[in-house]
Amino acid sequence: MKPARLSMRLGLAVTAMSALLVLVMAAFAYASISHQLDLRAREGLSEKLGQIEHSLAESSASAAEIVLQPHNLRDQIIGHDNFTLTILDSSAPRKRLLSIGNNEDIALQVPLNETGLQGFEVLKSAQGDETLTAYKLINLKKDRPVLVILALDRKSDALLLAAYVKSTIIALPFILLLVGSCAWWVIHRGLQPLQAFRRVAQRITARDLSHRIQAADLPEELSDLAHAVNFMLDRLDSDIQQLARFCDDLAHELRSPMNNLMGKAQVTLSKERPPAQYKQVLESCTEELERLSRMVSQMLFLASASQPSAPLSFETIELQEEAIKVTELFSLSAEEKQMSLRVQGSAQVSGDRLMIQRAISNLLSNAIRHGTPGSEVTITLASQPDAISLAVRNAGEGIEAEHLPRLFDRFYRVHASRSRQQGGTGLGLAIVRSIMNVHEGRATVTSEPGDATTFSLIFPARPQLGARVVR
Ligand SMILES: Nc1ncnc2c1ncn2[C@@H]1O[C@H](COP(=O)(O)OP(=O)(O)OP(=O)(O)O)[C@@H](O)[C@H]1O
Ligand SMILES: [Mg+2]
Repeated sequence: MKPARLSMRLGLAVTAMSALLVLVMAAFAYASISHQLDLRAREGLSEKLGQIEHSLAESSASAAEIVLQPHNLRDQIIGHDNFTLTILDSSAPRKRLLSIGNNEDIALQVPLNETGLQGFEVLKSAQGDETLTAYKLINLKKDRPVLVILALDRKSDALLLAAYVKSTIIALPFILLLVGSCAWWVIHRGLQPLQAFRRVAQRITARDLSHRIQAADLPEELSDLAHAVNFMLDRLDSDIQQLARFCDDLAHELRSPMNNLMGKAQVTLSKERPPAQYKQVLESCTEELERLSRMVSQMLFLASASQPSAPLSFETIELQEEAIKVTELFSLSAEEKQMSLRVQGSAQVSGDRLMIQRAISNLLSNAIRHGTPGSEVTITLASQPDAISLAVRNAGEGIEAEHLPRLFDRFYRVHASRSRQQGGTGLGLAIVRSIMNVHEGRATVTSEPGDATTFSLIFPARPQLGARVVR
């Protein structure tokens, strides 16, 4: 089932809460009105009973006088339709001396056995209406005390309360409809700024990631979200551009050796040739294929170093030991150029051994390839409080400053054709940078053209070196 619209859901929730609130308030008001009416009824009854007592004291000295001269008492009650006065002989219970009012029978219901000298009783009249009765034993000057029972018919109060309940029940649906519509409208308007996200999301495609959400026009709660989305789009944009550049570069890099191979094969096959010539062509093709295969394996390594799928096992590594191992591997190619290799200093880092060896060998192979024949290549290790560095320095023609910022990009070469001829793929330094990213470090280069070039691996200094696992 399709989930309901957010504005609808919130509107209904607000309506339900309002309904609950209105009901609680109505119940509270009902209880409060009912309590007030009760209080007023008791006060009214007490007051009237007081007046009757006063009247009895003044005008009737005995029970006989009450029966014969009831005018004073009648005056007290006449005009008050809801009062009924009953005076009983206290010595002969239920013997009625006087009764004024419409509700004469109610006095008989007062539980006289339990009554003390004075009190209140809530009773039901013959018509089923609630009746509040007040009774009091009043002493006469010359006779036995009489029991005065004054009843107040509370039908009008009951009608008032019923009218209140009825009007509340009639008004409730209208109130809820009003509250629900207002809530829906307010929420609907409040969610309008989200349209900015929808508009941008609709326009975004893999080819066009340039659209951004105008965070300045949004309320504070949403502007943070807009900044986060814009930041995500920035990253995606730059990653996709990088990927596109990489694909272009890759196609370009593969096209030249493919064309070479194809050209050589076609020219060779165009006519009959002596076996020695075939052998020579095949050897040259094999060289080209070896370079291609190296490029593919470099790219695979680069991909795995950029996003390692298996956890890397970091261990404490003696950089000096690793540097010496790598120089031993390159001793032959250094000898070919009468170059000497030297490792100086020592340092420890936490890292992946094979990756670090690969980074050092990429720098060393470059240094030997671009170093002046007969010169020395030095690997210097240093431990500073905030960083650990490994610097590979070679004398040579150096690199112009304009090339330095792009040197670590994939396939970037200062002299592309010369480098290709030398078998370079242009991926060595990109791999070094990826390896350093994995180690939360960085790779830097400084060069003085015509003099020397130094590539450095900078590792972060860790308070406690040791094994850790990085995903
Ligand atoms: N020590 C250096 N002296 C001068 N130029 C250098 C030095 N190291 C690298 N370069 C320049 O940087 C470019 C990129 O080097 P990188 O190692 O990435 O690629 P490559 O050496 O051409 O190929 P690969 O390392 O894959 O064999 C080189 O082509 C070269 O022009
Ligand atoms: Mg290289």
